[in-house]
Amino acid sequence: MSKILAFNWKTNPTSQKESIELFNSYKDNFDKIVNWNKIVFPPFVYLSKIVELANNENIKAFIGSQDISQYESGAHTSQISAKMIKDLGCDYALIGHSETRSELLTTSFDTAYKIKICLENNLKPILCVGFEPKLDNENIDFEELTNQIITAISSNETALSKLETFIIAYEPTWAIGTGKIPTLAQIESVSDFIISTIHDHFGADLSHKTSVLYGGSVNDSNISELTKSDKIAGFLIGGASLIPDKVQKIVEKLLDL
Ligand code: PGA
Repeated sequence: MSKILAFNWKTNPTSQKESIELFNSYKDNFDKIVNWNKIVFPPFVYLSKIVELANNENIKAFIGSQDISQYESGAHTSQISAKMIKDLGCDYALIGHSETRSELLTTSFDTAYKIKICLENNLKPILCVGFEPKLDNENIDFEELTNQIITAISSNETALSKLETFIIAYEPTWAIGTGKIPTLAQIESVSDFIISTIHDHFGADLSHKTSVLYGGSVNDSNISELTKSDKIAGFLIGGASLIPDKVQKIVEKLLDL
C-alpha cells in the first residue's frame, strides 16, 4: 500500500487567495512523490476551490475536510455534513482531531457517529487519536487510547471492514505544534498497540486493514528518521504544510530514502 502524506491546514491561511497560492505550490513536489498518497485538509470555506484546482491544474492530491457533522442534514445550525463534503468532490474527513476534541468538545461517542455518517456517504474517515499527558511527563496513556479507539469503532466495524484501508492518525497532544516528538520506539509501540487493540476487539480482518499515521511536529528535519519505520504508514502534518519551502524539503527527504 502507498504511504500517506496528509496536510492539515487547520484555520489557515486567512484568505482564499493565499490558499490557492499554497495549494498551487504543492504541484511540482506532489508530482515527484508518485508512490505517496497525498491528502490535503483545507478549511471548509476553501474546499470547493481547492477541489476545482486539483482537477483543473492536475494537482495529484485527494482533498478532505477537517471535521464533519454527525448529522446528514436538518436543523443543525453551523454544521457541515458528510453529504455536502462528498458532493464537493472530497474523499476524506478527519474525525476527532485533538483540537476538535478540546475546543469543540467532540467526544469519542461523537467520533463513532461521525465515522458512521462518513461511511454512509462514501467519505473515508481518518480517525485521530491522542491524549493529554496525565502526569508531568510524556508517558503514553494507553487507557485513554483504548477508550478512543474502541468507542469510535464499536458499531462501525462491519462498515469499516469494507474499506480498503482504515486510517488512524496517532497524534499525542503534547507533540502538536510544539516542535517536540516522541521517540521512534514510542511511536512504534503505539502503532503496535493500536493494531493489537483492534485485533483483540474487532478481529483480524479490520486489524489487517488498519494503517497508522503519526502526527505532531513532523517536519523536514525529523521525517527521514520516522519514515524508516514500517509501523508508520505516513504522516499528518500541520504547521510545516503551510510553508512551501518546508514542503519542498520534506519531499526531497522522502525522495532521498
Ligand atoms: P503540527 O500539527 O504538525 O503543527 O504539529 C499536526 C496536527 O495537529 O495534525
